[in-house]
Amino acid sequence: MTYAAITGWGACMPPAVLTNDDLSTFLDTSDEWISSRTGMRERRVSHVGAIELSTIAASRALACAGLDASDVDLIIYGGVSNDELVPNSASGVQVALGATRAASIDLNTACTSFCYGLTTATAMIRTGVVRNAIVIGVELISRYMDWSNRNVAVLFGDGAAAVVLQASENEEGVLGSILGCDAEGRQTLRVRGFGCTYALHDVTFGDTLWDFDGQAIFKRAVHAMSDASKRVLEQQGLTADQVDLVVPHQANLRIIEAVAKYAGVPMDRVVVTVEKYGNMSAATVPVALVEALEAGRVKPGATLLMPAFGGGLTYCSLLVKWGQRVTPLGTSPMTLPPLTHTALEMVNTIRSHQDPHGRSLEGLMAPTFAESFADANAG
Ligand code: UT7
Repeated sequence: MTYAAITGWGACMPPAVLTNDDLSTFLDTSDEWISSRTGMRERRVSHVGAIELSTIAASRALACAGLDASDVDLIIYGGVSNDELVPNSASGVQVALGATRAASIDLNTACTSFCYGLTTATAMIRTGVVRNAIVIGVELISRYMDWSNRNVAVLFGDGAAAVVLQASENEEGVLGSILGCDAEGRQTLRVRGFGCTYALHDVTFGDTLWDFDGQAIFKRAVHAMSDASKRVLEQQGLTADQVDLVVPHQANLRIIEAVAKYAGVPMDRVVVTVEKYGNMSAATVPVALVEALEAGRVKPGATLLMPAFGGGLTYCSLLVKWGQRVTPLGTSPMTLPPLTHTALEMVNTIRSHQDPHGRSLEGLMAPTFAESFADANAG
């Protein structure tokens, strides 16, 4: 039987820090509100593109695995943030790494993209389609955040991390995945302004309006992640006390605490990064995993649970059996260029390019193309 062992891991966190106090310089919000409602104190704003963040994270994961880029068969770029849509982002990582033999896929299930990518790559390795894969979770949300909307602007951050998977005879890696989508809730989280549906409207990229029903998402997220975790444990014949570490999606500390409670795992066995990085969507689970490894919290042979949810509303919970190695085989020389601006300066620059009231999008509810076409002709 072939398994897909996780043999390499690496993160690339942008160094510029945006604090809650920075946010209150231009939003009607406060450190007290943000930290008490979400557990977040700061988040990162990237000064480079998403492909660059991903490439550095992937090169660190490759060095950690002791694998050459030319041995990579598959790159999955998991996330919503693309530097461009065509060509795809995974191909940008591929060329920067020199992974000349790889197939390259962009995979978007919003915040669950890394976990879905991990499941996809594992299945492809286990069925013999590929042997060596890189799976990336990355987001560059600062570029399309609606910085005038305090309901969402305080919640998100940028970041990236990657893992390397290799075919192995040892029973390790992702052993079970429950994937699903609560599609009836898809309207609770929509970023208006992206996509073909807006083609006939005068919409500048990066000008977005977020439809975001935080309380509805909160309830659906807790239910979906808890249920998926229960089912994946049952599927694997395990109980909560056999889980060594939960590495959950980091959208809100209160959501994490609720999921841990339902799962029956105490918080000292849950990885939490939300106070430092906010919600990095697809990057939260791999960044938390890398930090747990670097802190010595993942022991050889550990059993990990990875619940996540995101726009769609996609959800999942993965059961991962770690291998024997918890330290890197090598390090990568790749690093980010030096910072030239503070996080607040970068955000203020993005804000200065945005329509402060989302006027071009107001009232535009994801029309069909036919409706857009009729509107454009009428106007
Ligand atoms: O990864 C997927 C995306 N993540 C999520 O979907 C997160 C899920 N939801 C949540 O984490 C929480 O629902 C939030 C953190 C978004 C909101 O927390 P809440 O406890 O559900 O607050 P609320 O939406 O009930 O808002 C309470 C009050 C409102 O004022 P009123 O109507 O009571 O006067 C909001 O207008 O807080 C106000 N508010 C704010 N106040 C200060 C909303 N955002 C802010 C803010 N600063 N940033």
